Amino acid sequence: MSDAALPPSAEFAGGTHARRTLVRAEGAAFWDDQGRRLVDLGATHGAGSLGAANPEVAAAVAEQARTLLYLGSGYENPVRTRFLEKLLALLPPSFGRVFLSNSGTEAVEAGIKIARGATGRPKVVAAMRGFHGRTLGALSATWRRELREPFEPLVPEFYHVPFNDVAALEAAVDASTALVLLEPVQGEGGVHVATGEYLRAARAVSDRSGALLAFDEVQTGVARTGRMFAFERWGVVPDVLLLAKSLAGGVPIGATVTTPEVEARFRGTHHSTFGGNPLACAAGIAALDFTVREKLAERAERLGSLARQKLATLPPERLREVRGLGLLIGIELREKSAPYLAALERRGFLAISAGATVIRLIPPLVISDEDWSAGLDAVAEVVADGAR
Ligand SMILES: Cc1ncc(COP(=O)(O)O)c(C=O)c1O
Repeated sequence: MSDAALPPSAEFAGGTHARRTLVRAEGAAFWDDQGRRLVDLGATHGAGSLGAANPEVAAAVAEQARTLLYLGSGYENPVRTRFLEKLLALLPPSFGRVFLSNSGTEAVEAGIKIARGATGRPKVVAAMRGFHGRTLGALSATWRRELREPFEPLVPEFYHVPFNDVAALEAAVDASTALVLLEPVQGEGGVHVATGEYLRAARAVSDRSGALLAFDEVQTGVARTGRMFAFERWGVVPDVLLLAKSLAGGVPIGATVTTPEVEARFRGTHHSTFGGNPLACAAGIAALDFTVREKLAERAERLGSLARQKLATLPPERLREVRGLGLLIGIELREKSAPYLAALERRGFLAISAGATVIRLIPPLVISDEDWSAGLDAVAEVVADGAR
């Protein structure tokens, strides 16, 4: 390996390549180690909804670190209690229990265990193109073959059905199904939005069969899609809601939200040393307060519809479709997206893909109108110019 090909640090990269070195953030912008400003259209993968250095979250973390940095979950703590109260106050009253962890994949793992432990059944039905994380249980629910195959055999009794296909879902769910696990908008899988009919059918078939219904809102949750939680748009309430990413303003957290009835049926145990630690909960309080006060769901809705209007005028020769809700937008091209991402980066905008041919725009919800407008102009330009 030549020096140029060496990774910049000793990190086990796990097949992903680090790109530019970023050292500082403010609002929706980063600065790299050369002092160049770059606007985030996706660099934080949805975890940076409040920006990657939100001052209110940073102040809450600093204050909490000086007061009580860590406490095991075997003890009550007012910060954790307050965070859980705030989170539950934003949700329908059927919810009342939250298991806290440290990431999206852990939130999913807890959801799978809760479903199996509450129903005594093995089967999990998930959707093709779905993404739920990379630990072995969550990976078993994830669709993409190249993510799964190197690690097989995975957990048994996981099945995948075509997304938005009511008949296929109804045929797959039966008396041995513990969990129906769906994303209201499939993020990693290319930004595909569920239909209301599909989610209502998922609710009905879960009720009929005695399975639990979980919505994985790790990517869509906390104001991203123009609602505080995406499921609000359709009024279909799941039994289990999975959250992570921006829930604590960029500090690692995962939350598996469920009902007291499900908890009462749960057999077994589940635990996490760092889950619900005071630092993450203090960040979570600051993040939820900020999200509500700054009306970020409305902002996501407004900036999202502006984008869809602008992107609707892109030339159809290179563009297959624009999809999404709020500030989770997929631009499906007729060719690979990687050169387009590189062209955007040359213009000072960091975006990511969602599959080989989709540019995913998932900017901080605090992005200024000017940066968003300039970002959309840059997208229009690179699409019109064929990634030059
Ligand atoms: C819908 C969904 N579920 C789960 C995960 C896994 O989250 P994490 O990377 O925090 O483990 C992701 C990550 O992108 C996601 O988009």
